[in-house]
Amino acid sequence: MPAYRIEGYVIVSADGMLANADRVMPEALKFEGDKHFFTSALDQADMIVHGRHSGEDQPNSPKRKRIILTRRVAALAPDPSNPNATLWNPSGATFEAACDFADVRSGTVAVIGGPAVFGMFMDRYDTFWLSLAPKVRLPGGEPCFPGVPQRSPQQILAAHGLKAGEARMLDPNDGVGVTPWRRVVAPSASPPR
Ligand SMILES: NC(=O)c1ccc[n+]([C@@H]2O[C@H](COP(=O)([O-])OP(=O)(O)OC[C@H]3O[C@@H](n4cnc5c(N)ncnc54)[C@H](OP(=O)(O)O)[C@@H]3O)[C@@H](O)[C@H]2O)c1
Repeated sequence: MPAYRIEGYVIVSADGMLANADRVMPEALKFEGDKHFFTSALDQADMIVHGRHSGEDQPNSPKRKRIILTRRVAALAPDPSNPNATLWNPSGATFEAACDFADVRSGTVAVIGGPAVFGMFMDRYDTFWLSLAPKVRLPGGEPCFPGVPQRSPQQILAAHGLKAGEARMLDPNDGVGVTPWRRVVAPSASPPR
């Protein structure tokens, strides 16, 4: 039985982008219902994982244990600017070693981006929560996963063994909803490198 439950979270535009052409998440992708959903989910997670340019910027953020991917360290190191954060270079240490270093040995891990980080865990998600803003388009923006826009985010999740569950409406005025994509076969045993 895997020690960690791994969940992914992203909000994307209709064209599958998580940020604009300047690699910034624009106000147009921020919605109250989705923010509330995301905040509540992270409050229940035991560990947050993200790349050096991402983060959730919420009131409870400083309290949360997190792993930050960066090539600025060889393998693992404490983050000098955050006592709750571990810096991790996957080319020097496994994900399990990073969790161990962070002193989190079981529980729910929330992976929150960016695209390369989402891609690294694609075969390990138990559930990926895909929020969609159908009225927003970000031409030339930053695709949410490797392989977008050649394939849609949904096609990529399906290709990695995840199946769409029932969508939940979060912001009815803007048509923003979240769909849980759940694994239909057991996650791969091999850790991401
Ligand atoms: N819409 C959404 O839900 C959502 C979700 C997440 C992010 N975003 C937005 O997307 C943008 C960030 O995108 P980003 O492409 O810059 O992604 P990012 O993953 O946040 O940051 C990239 C950095 O993470 C580190 N990294 C990533 N993969 C690594 C690997 N395999 N090994 C070691 N280090 C690795 C590197 O840091 P070093 O340079 O230190 O080596 C790299 O420069 C932000 O604007 C953010 O707000 C939006």
